[in-house]
Amino acid sequence: MYVGRLVQLGPLKREYLPQYLAWVNDPEVGRYLFPGQMRFLTSEDEEEWFDRVRKAQDQIIFAILTVEGGHLLGNCGLRNIDWKNRCASFGIFIGNKRFWGKGYGTEATRLLLRYAFEELNLHRVELEVYDFNTRAIRAYEKAGFRREGTRRQALYREGSWHDIHLMAILKEEWEANAMGQ
Ligand SMILES: CC(C)(COP(=O)(O)OP(=O)(O)OC[C@H]1O[C@@H](n2cnc3c(N)ncnc32)[C@H](O)[C@@H]1OP(=O)(O)O)[C@@H](O)C(=O)NCCC(=O)NCCS
Repeated sequence: MYVGRLVQLGPLKREYLPQYLAWVNDPEVGRYLFPGQMRFLTSEDEEEWFDRVRKAQDQIIFAILTVEGGHLLGNCGLRNIDWKNRCASFGIFIGNKRFWGKGYGTEATRLLLRYAFEELNLHRVELEVYDFNTRAIRAYEKAGFRREGTRRQALYREGSWHDIHLMAILKEEWEANAMGQ
C-alpha cells in the first residue's frame, strides 16, 4: 500500500541517523528545513530526535526509500497530530540531491497522504513552506495541497526576508484528487 512506482515508505531505523545527520547538515538542504539560525546538528541531537519520535503519540515519521534497491532517500511524516480535530502537519526531505526534481518527493507525499487519510482517518493535513522553495511548492501542488495563506516576511534567510506559505489539503480534496491519479 505504501509502495509507489519510485519510492516506498518504510520504518524509521536508528541505523539511518548518520546519513540523516550528514544530509541535514548540508546547508543546501538545511536552508529549506529549519527557520532558526543555521547551525550544525550533532549525532546526540539526531539520537534525541529519534527517541522523541519513537515515543511520541502525536508524531509519525517514515523513511523514504527507493523501490529499486531500497536505497535511503530521506524521510517524511506527520507532526502535531491532533486526534480530536483530526489534523496534522506534514514534513518531508529528500537528502540525496541527485534525486531532486525527478518525481520522488511528489510520490512520497502522495503515499503519506494516503496513510494520513485512509489509515489515520485524518481530516486535514497542512504544511509550511518557504517562498523560495519553488520545487517543494510545485510538488505539494501536484499532490493536491492548496495555498491558504502567507506569513509575510516571517523568515530571515541569507540576507533577506522571505514569506512562509501555509498550504493544506482536506480529505475530500484528496479523495477527489486521488481518483484522478
Ligand atoms: C521538496 C522535495 C521533497 C520535493 O521533492 P522532489 O522529488 O524534488 O520534487 P518532484 O520532482 O516530485 O516535484 C518537483 C516539481 O518542481 C519542479 N522543479 C524542479 N526543480 C525546480 C526548481 N528549481 N524550481 C522550480 N520548480 C522546480 C519539477 O519540475 C517538478 O514539477 P513538474 O513535475 O511539474 O515538472 C525535495 O526537493 C526536497 O527534499 N528538498 C529539500 C528539503 C525540502 O525542501 N523539504 C521541504 C521543506 S517544506
